[in-house]
Amino acid sequence: MLASVPRSALRTSRLAQQAAKPYAQTIRCASVFSNVPQGPPDAILGITEAYKADSHPEKINLGVGAYRDDKGKPYVLPSVKSAEQKVVQGNLDKEYAGITGVPDFTKAAALLAYGSDSAPLKEGRIAITQTISGTGALRIGGAFLERFYPGAKTIYIPNPSWANHNAVFKDSGLKVEKYRYYNKDTIGLDFEGMIEDIKNLPSGSIVLLHACAHNPTGVDPTEEQWRAISDAVKEGNHYPFFDMAYQGFASGDTDKDAFAVRHFIKEGHQISLCQSFAKNMGLYGERVGAFSIVCADAEEKKRVDSQIKILVRPLYSNPPVHGARIASTILNDAALNKQWLGEVKGMADRIITMRALLKENLEKLGSKHDWSHITSQIGMFAYTGLKPEQMDALAKEHSVYATKDGRISVAGITSGNVKRLAESIYKVTG
Ligand SMILES: Cc1ncc(COP(=O)(O)O)c(C=O)c1O
Repeated sequence: MLASVPRSALRTSRLAQQAAKPYAQTIRCASVFSNVPQGPPDAILGITEAYKADSHPEKINLGVGAYRDDKGKPYVLPSVKSAEQKVVQGNLDKEYAGITGVPDFTKAAALLAYGSDSAPLKEGRIAITQTISGTGALRIGGAFLERFYPGAKTIYIPNPSWANHNAVFKDSGLKVEKYRYYNKDTIGLDFEGMIEDIKNLPSGSIVLLHACAHNPTGVDPTEEQWRAISDAVKEGNHYPFFDMAYQGFASGDTDKDAFAVRHFIKEGHQISLCQSFAKNMGLYGERVGAFSIVCADAEEKKRVDSQIKILVRPLYSNPPVHGARIASTILNDAALNKQWLGEVKGMADRIITMRALLKENLEKLGSKHDWSHITSQIGMFAYTGLKPEQMDALAKEHSVYATKDGRISVAGITSGNVKRLAESIYKVTG
């Protein structure tokens, strides 16, 4: 066979093979990640995209968890603008912060959360680090517990909880389980279920608690219920891990919203606490937060501090300074602090007003459903109780976009769109 093939043809085909080799290698190089599977799209981002693609002139986006003013526009707090000007005028350098951040910020953040009469604060036994907003606080907290919590490395979160809790804690190396929280029949708190589950957890479990403005349900325990939750946590010898992403945003009062955290401290719990300044200062993109651990004494705090630094250093070395300087300026300047508290109250009050208006409009339309949960829930979100197919109909037939679980961001409601929103909800719920 070979003999019948002309020599020149053989040479050409060998040359062609050689020429093809580097090409094949290039293909192999380009497909190093050929085994990477397509991940599911982010639920909220998908909503924003569908909203953007909709040409309805009065479309409404209630998916995003960010505050909007009554014109539906992003809101930069005047106190933040003033503080930022002060920071710029201060002509500060851009040197690295320490591993645990800007000390004036973390000191003030702890004071805001724990209160000036807090025993562990006065006794210098709270270890605190600046974090990449609330998510970063949860991630550092999760990693710290994974490394040092002496009991089982499982964290129990409410069902439902903020969608990212599961991913953050899993990536921190913790196992994630759930306890009962929401009763879909009453569209309220399943208080008995929650207490029963907490009591039945293995002794010494880590329990995640939303300090206020529970996301996604907007359903918070009352102060009396918090007392019982504290007792149940104590009875089980559990470890309370607080996520406080909305201090001030729920009631408009930063002290009132810190009730659960401060009550647990008074009751002698050693807690962990995640704070975010995304919502209450509108510093979403600046990523300002804090993670703190209440220790037994100052000596233990010193050891915990050292280990937090060892955790943070290989993750991101040290946090960004600009947002923390803004927050610190607001928290440490008496006049600006007072102004900010007024602005937080303004945001919370607008949300409370929109809740009332939505309920009122639904009732005016003659809706036979009980909408009292809209006003009894608190914070940025309302769990409407609408079913996934009703949420689909809201989007497809009325250009109203929100998550399929029936959660709407009340911050996206305005006096201009509340009537149309109520009409749309009325049409899909009957
Ligand atoms: C319950 C809860 N925890 C934490 C966060 C973290 O937010 P950020 O990382 O923007 O501070 C959020 C944000 O929506 C939240 O709702």
